[in-house]
Amino acid sequence: MTRHVLSFDKAAPPDSRLFRQALGRFSTGVTVITTRAPGGSRIGVTANSFSAVSLDPPLILWSVRNEAPSLRAFLDAGVFAVNILTQEQADLSHHFATPRADKFAGIACADGHGGCPVLKGALALFECDLDRSIPAGDHVILLGRVVRASFDDAASPLLFSSGRYAVAARLPNIDASSDLAAMWEGLG
Ligand SMILES: Cc1cc2nc3c(=O)[nH]c(=O)nc-3n(C[C@H](O)[C@H](O)[C@H](O)COP(=O)(O)O)c2cc1C
Repeated sequence: MTRHVLSFDKAAPPDSRLFRQALGRFSTGVTVITTRAPGGSRIGVTANSFSAVSLDPPLILWSVRNEAPSLRAFLDAGVFAVNILTQEQADLSHHFATPRADKFAGIACADGHGGCPVLKGALALFECDLDRSIPAGDHVILLGRVVRASFDDAASPLLFSSGRYAVAARLPNIDASSDLAAMWEGLG
């Protein structure tokens, strides 16, 4: 086992691949974030930078690369929908991470808030107004104010961990789990 140490020295910055690998140790869910461009076209991007921010008011965020062709549409539309994927939807993750002219051809979806495409079978959905965008290095943070949320309590999430897709396996029940549930309910 090797412990990699990265030092962010301006004169000799670390290998960005290693930084990416370090960040990848934080496992996430996988989302497809969609919008409806002002011209009417449907836009969708795979993203794992999604995060909860605030319960009251209801705020979430994600970040998009400055170079992403879809960035302009997200800024101009002022609305977006976060589709949280199930473990059966890894193919959709790959699909929406691959640039192509019309990512929605042959994809089962409906129109949601502001005309944003809503994917059939998503584990959870957060439909948002764009609250504000915040330039942040080589990404732009998009803060969304949730106008509607829904979720399916039977399906299982698709996870992304160390650059690979994964599925969640619950730890066996331990005494602390009921405390954890109470703690989580009490947050906010
Ligand atoms: C699991 C996974 C997570 C990703 N997360 C993000 C993200 O949070 N932000 C981002 O800008 N791109 C992310 N990407 C890359 C985009 O999906 C990819 O660049 C896509 O082509 C962007 O769409 P566009 O080319 O239509 O703008 C991710 C890709 C994968 C496979």
